[in-house]
Amino acid sequence: MNKSRIMLTVNGQNIEFDAEPRKLLSDALREDCRLTGTHVGCEHGVCGACTVLVDGRPQRACLSFAIQMEGHEVTTIEAIGSPTGFSILQEAMHVAHGLQCGFCTPGIVMTFEAFLREHPDPSEADIREALSGNLCRCTGYQNIVKAIVDAAQRMKGAGCVPLDTALAKEACPHAVAGRPNPIPEGEGVNPTRQNFEQALKP
Ligand code: FES
Ligand code: FES
Repeated sequence: MNKSRIMLTVNGQNIEFDAEPRKLLSDALREDCRLTGTHVGCEHGVCGACTVLVDGRPQRACLSFAIQMEGHEVTTIEAIGSPTGFSILQEAMHVAHGLQCGFCTPGIVMTFEAFLREHPDPSEADIREALSGNLCRCTGYQNIVKAIVDAAQRMKGAGCVPLDTALAKEACPHAVAGRPNPIPEGEGVNPTRQNFEQALKP
C-alpha cells in the first residue's frame, strides 16, 4: 500500500513521517514517534493499555488510525509529570503500590489524569466503574483504587483543572521523556529494539 505523509501533534510537538494510511496510532506513536510509553496489549480495544488523550479525552490508540489524528492534540504518558517529579496521580500510584509489572500503568494513568479532572469528587464506585476499562493482570486492583482515591483528594485540594490541550502543550517542554528519542542509525533494524540494546550496553 502507498505511504502518505502523516503530520501529528504529540505532546505539543509536530511530528511528520511517512506511513500507510492504515497505520494505527499506537504503532505510529511507538515506531514513528519513538514514544514507547504507550503500551499495546490486546490490539482490539479491550485492555486499555494503549490509552492516550486526544484533545484531552482518553482514547484507545489501537482503535485509531494515525492519519485520523491530524488536526488533533495527542497526549501520551511521556507528557505526564516532569523530569523533577511525578504528577499527583503517578505519586499516589507509587506510594500505594498501585502497580507490579507496570504494563497496564500508562493506560490507567492516562485514563485517570483525565477522569479526575472531569470528576473532582468521585466515589469509590465511580472510580471502580471508570477503571473497568483498564485491565490489570497483576495487582487485583485494590491498590490501584486506593491510589486513585488518594489522588482524587489531593488533586481536588490542589485545584487541578481539565487536562486540556493548553495544559498538554504546557506540560510538554518540561517532559524530557515526552520528546521523541533520536532516530537510530542503521537500516533494517527495529529502532525500538536497537535503542533498547544500546541502553543496555555497559
Ligand atoms: S491495546 Fe488497545 S485496548 Fe488493548
Ligand atoms: S501491574 Fe502488571 S498488568 Fe497491571
